[in-house]
Amino acid sequence: MASRLAVIGSGIAGLYAALLAADAGADVVLLTKGALDQSNTWYAQGGISAVLAKPAPGDTVAAHIADTLRAGAGHCNEAAVRLMCTEARRDIEGLQCYGVTFDAGQAGATQAEATYDGGPALGLEAAHSAPRILHAGGDATGARVAGALIQAVLSRRDEGKLTLLAHARATSLVTHRGRVTGLEYLQDGRTSRLDADAVLLATGGAGQLFAQTTNPAVATADGLALAVRAGAATADLEFFQFHPTCLVSSATALPDRLDGPLLISEAVRGEGAILRDSGGRRFMQAYHPDAELAPRDVVSRSIALHLAKLGDPTGHVYLDARVIEQARGEGFLQQRFPTLTRKTLDAGIDWTRELVPVAPAAHYWMGGVRTDLSARTTVPGLYAAGEAACTGVQGANRLASNSLLEGLVFGRRAVEGFLSGGRGWDASRGSDAPRAASAAGGLRLTHASAPLPRNASAPVTVPAALEGGADLSGAPAGSWPFSSGGGEEVGEPFSREALRRLMTSHAGVLRSGELLAEAGRTLESWAGVVRPLSSAGLSPVDPGVLEDRNLLLAARLLVAAALNRRESLGAHYRDDGPDQTEPSYPPRLKASLLHD
Ligand code: FAD
Ligand code: SIN
Repeated sequence: MASRLAVIGSGIAGLYAALLAADAGADVVLLTKGALDQSNTWYAQGGISAVLAKPAPGDTVAAHIADTLRAGAGHCNEAAVRLMCTEARRDIEGLQCYGVTFDAGQAGATQAEATYDGGPALGLEAAHSAPRILHAGGDATGARVAGALIQAVLSRRDEGKLTLLAHARATSLVTHRGRVTGLEYLQDGRTSRLDADAVLLATGGAGQLFAQTTNPAVATADGLALAVRAGAATADLEFFQFHPTCLVSSATALPDRLDGPLLISEAVRGEGAILRDSGGRRFMQAYHPDAELAPRDVVSRSIALHLAKLGDPTGHVYLDARVIEQARGEGFLQQRFPTLTRKTLDAGIDWTRELVPVAPAAHYWMGGVRTDLSARTTVPGLYAAGEAACTGVQGANRLASNSLLEGLVFGRRAVEGFLSGGRGWDASRGSDAPRAASAAGGLRLTHASAPLPRNASAPVTVPAALEGGADLSGAPAGSWPFSSGGGEEVGEPFSREALRRLMTSHAGVLRSGELLAEAGRTLESWAGVVRPLSSAGLSPVDPGVLEDRNLLLAARLLVAAALNRRESLGAHYRDDGPDQTEPSYPPRLKASLLHD
């Protein structure tokens, strides 16, 4: 009988891995907690970075590796970066086998676009030294990629090659003698158990930790929480990337709108848009020589610092896209950014004539469940890939368009490991021969027992009795930086919104030890209130409460990691750390141009 792989999540990592495993003859069950298209992947605008067999002139895999390492502020796992950039092209081919079509180059491409040999259009983005971003549907890459993969999954389901459980929420991992042997899930109000030979967590990120986020409502750190409760190690949790340009007016006008991105792509600045403050002044030049085209963490931090300087720390700045139309002619914005033109109009803004109010928003978690180069977590039987995992490729600040790529490459590698018999947790057992070919051009099995990320942060050891306001006194010294929280005064009772506000004000773009410690104390107190469901007398099948618990656990881990890292690095900026100089970014090979 074929071995069973349970894949949790229908973003790029889960869909692609499920397809590869099913096509290789495995017994695959794909679960997702909402509809198949509810994922961060669906909303990706920009594209997927990859150096193809015929790259843009002068571009090389080595350049992609160098750019990724540089953007990651020296904190990347270099082996993982090398592997991802080197293997990128085979997974792009894999995607194409599953029906994904990338935009082809056109004559008269924009200044940030390149086309070579009649191949796909290759875009240039922030901190990339060459055009290498594949995109689809202009600024609708995620929907096009996910749409094609979903169609492929549905056809395999119809052929009986894969079991699909939509609106099925994984609620816990089942372990036996330290090995993951399945999971429990909630569907239609009922909890069921699914046995599996291995589980792949592809549950995405956790933007819902923060009050303003580009992420849809499903991004609630479920995978991280499931893995931590099963004993898995995490890494780099202090590094959360904030995208500089989130449409503030839309968030204000539609406060309950959690189902889509509020993001205004970096490509808009790449085409020439500039940032202005409420006095109409352009301010980014004062913060970084590359001004609006500086790395993402720098632009977000500069906006926050500038607003603080103006005495309006919770305010916003403006994106001036009018200058693009002035320079490129009327109709350019509509032609180049059709989706964003519609979305800004929906929010009541004609960006060809008006300034767009923007502020940084939580976008991407560099940290996650710690994995090695074969997507293995520290718990046998449990793989993780995509945003839920931390391979170390993203370092302290992700390079644009490297996330979809990471989900593909490490999703495939998880499947390779699974097909080999899931060995490798015990390095002495070696590996099996390849079991099947796949759309990715044959699942090459590479089972080197890869080291965990070299530069990963010191793991935060989580007390065993983590939740429910448990006694944390047994935590190893220095690993859990908060008091037990017993008897702690709480200013505001727990609610999802209070948690999100707290994380934004205390653990957001600008941090300090004092703010983080205060956040930690409040979170500990809440942990005493949001108890395990049975003892709190709440319905054990309330999905909202399940998510609240996961978010609260993730928040506590993030804040603990941020407190433990005293110096500023990449997206983690503390104004009280030992080194307060802006991290230096070596000059790039070319002037920075951005493109989705
Ligand atoms: P996701 O795509 O988030 O999928 C996670 C899945 O897990 C979802 O289906 C979710 O419902 C499911 N799930 C979660 N919890 C459970 C549970 N308990 N049980 C069952 N299912 C569960 N990256 C790029 O590289 N290029 C871009 O241009 C780009 N643009 C972006 C634009 C926006 C607006 C956003 C939000 C992100 C963007 N990113 C981009 C980042 C990128 O989209 C994500 O990091 C990536 O898609 C994550 O893929 P994933 O498969 O790991 O997770
Ligand atoms: C964007 O289009 O600005 C987002 C791209 C990314 O997150 O990689």
